[in-house]
Amino acid sequence: MIAVLNRFLALRLFRRILAGAPVCVVLMLPAFGQQPLQTLLVGVDHRTVTSLDGEWHYLVDQAPARDLYTDTGLINDHGYALNTHPNISSGKHNEEYDFATASTLKVPGDWNTQVPQLFNYEGVLWYQRDFDAEPKAGTRTFLHIGAANYRSHVWVNQKRVCDHEGGFTPFDCEVTAVLHPGSNFVVIAVDATRLVDGIPSVGYDWYNYGGLTRDVSLVTVPSAFIDDYDVHLAHGPVWQPGNTEVTGYVHVLDAPAGTAVTLDIPEAGVHAELKTDADGRAPFYVKGSKLTLWSPETPKLYRVALATGSGEQQDKLSDDIGFRDIRVDGTHILLNGKPVFLNGINVHAEAAIVGGRVDNDQEVATLFSYLKDLHANFARLCHYPHDERMTRTADRDGIMIWSEIPNWQHISFDKPEVYAKDLAVLREMIRRDRNKASVILWSVSNETSNNPTRTKFLSDLASQARQLDSTRLITSALNSEHIAGSTATLDDPLTNALDVVGVNEYIGWYTGVPEDADTLRWVLPEKPVIFSEFGAEAKYGNHGPVTQRWTEEQQADVYKHQLVMLAKVPQLRGITPWILMDFRSTTRNIPKLQDGYNRKGLLSEDGKKKETFFLLQKAYGDNSVGKP
Ligand code: GCU
Repeated sequence: MIAVLNRFLALRLFRRILAGAPVCVVLMLPAFGQQPLQTLLVGVDHRTVTSLDGEWHYLVDQAPARDLYTDTGLINDHGYALNTHPNISSGKHNEEYDFATASTLKVPGDWNTQVPQLFNYEGVLWYQRDFDAEPKAGTRTFLHIGAANYRSHVWVNQKRVCDHEGGFTPFDCEVTAVLHPGSNFVVIAVDATRLVDGIPSVGYDWYNYGGLTRDVSLVTVPSAFIDDYDVHLAHGPVWQPGNTEVTGYVHVLDAPAGTAVTLDIPEAGVHAELKTDADGRAPFYVKGSKLTLWSPETPKLYRVALATGSGEQQDKLSDDIGFRDIRVDGTHILLNGKPVFLNGINVHAEAAIVGGRVDNDQEVATLFSYLKDLHANFARLCHYPHDERMTRTADRDGIMIWSEIPNWQHISFDKPEVYAKDLAVLREMIRRDRNKASVILWSVSNETSNNPTRTKFLSDLASQARQLDSTRLITSALNSEHIAGSTATLDDPLTNALDVVGVNEYIGWYTGVPEDADTLRWVLPEKPVIFSEFGAEAKYGNHGPVTQRWTEEQQADVYKHQLVMLAKVPQLRGITPWILMDFRSTTRNIPKLQDGYNRKGLLSEDGKKKETFFLLQKAYGDNSVGKP
């Protein structure tokens, strides 16, 4: 067996030998002669999978950063990936850990809200669990991870299978070659350390919840299988009333050209027999006999069945897909050809009452119950892709979605490797959710400084998003407006790359007093505009005169003056005030008022409605905020 030690590890090993310390040789063998496949399987939540959710053993690895990573960026494992057990009686100390008898964490779930000692922990934590498998010849198995914040490194049966960076998008590691019948085990190191060159970078206004924060499962498929598909209403240069044409592609991985694929949408009278091209892609353009278009009023979803192969080698899956058209026309946003106004709100992926990352049906249902109560038809899932349940529920409940990659404020826009990371996260976000009718906007950033390097970086990213998905609108939340006297001007060149412009401003909270909004005039691009953030902090139950900050009355007063101002913006096509619910942030530390929470929510973190909730609920119910 060839022990492959990288330079860094060898040096460390040498030091330990000199010091007479026990030595554990880490085998950095490529799992099976080549790099295992890493991909993103679309529609996993519609496949029959083996869930690996539940209790995982864990240990905290507080080795200093210099010891954690090799100079090639691979994590050093102190033998933990081997999952061996100490031989207590022999006194040998090769393994000073034992997952089998270690404490456990619930997966999915951030570690911060499960173990008090881990509440502020932002380092490396090693997870381990056993699982049974009965791999069958002619099938392939992938380990599916819904999200792991922030970097993750995966071994199965002591073989390294994949690494991933990005805390909010799924990834799939092929484990076919390392599985054996019976008991297997997986070890995952998750590193929540913030990186200056990360996406996001280091200082952000939300809680850095670490861990396997979304579902983990095993997906078994035939040797050639459907890994990606795009099924959407044909989107021509102009809106076609009565359009029932459906187009897109089905991709079959590792299939020879000419592989047969079938597409069925029974309720729309669609059956198509397709063939893959040399790249495994089977494009299609079919005309349905009838199609009820998706909208908040009629969130109609169709069962779409895809199949390829036959017998044991057949792969088939279905999805629930809505068909709708979204486009801009001058300063209007048209949904299925009709102007629409977006009564929205910002939503962080934080669970009401219990706190922590949202990772299950109940927590998602609670957030959507608040949206429904608010009479919202729109939500900005800030500032990162949320659990897939959020966009699935939005599809079913008829809530339109702004989905965003975590380019929050200061990103290393000058570094090509950061652009590459960004592109990877953008691809993962679009690939996972492109078949969700509720998603109408892809956002490339939030509040970044207006300078040429950033503008080129984000403009390039916006054009990549369009190439990946020409059917949706591209946006970004900007706070680069400048206010002189009673005029606020947004003339940021990034707006040239956007279909819809997001504007963040905090008049009456961070700048000036609420009354300033009454007389403020906005100079904005001739495009649809969404005021994507405004608001004020208030502690639930804290009451006083409207002039007293941190009271519910003052927060409501800010909204009153904001709505007066916004009603005068001719190209206003939606608002997402900041924010649905108070949320944890390490930058919010005023005792008795914040206590570690950003309090701009319309609800407290335990779901109690502040006065402003009712103010906005009425405005949305009356449709009085703006005109479509
Ligand atoms: C910023 C930012 C948010 C932040 C908010 C605030 O605009 O986009 O992430 O939480 O303002 O300061 O409360």
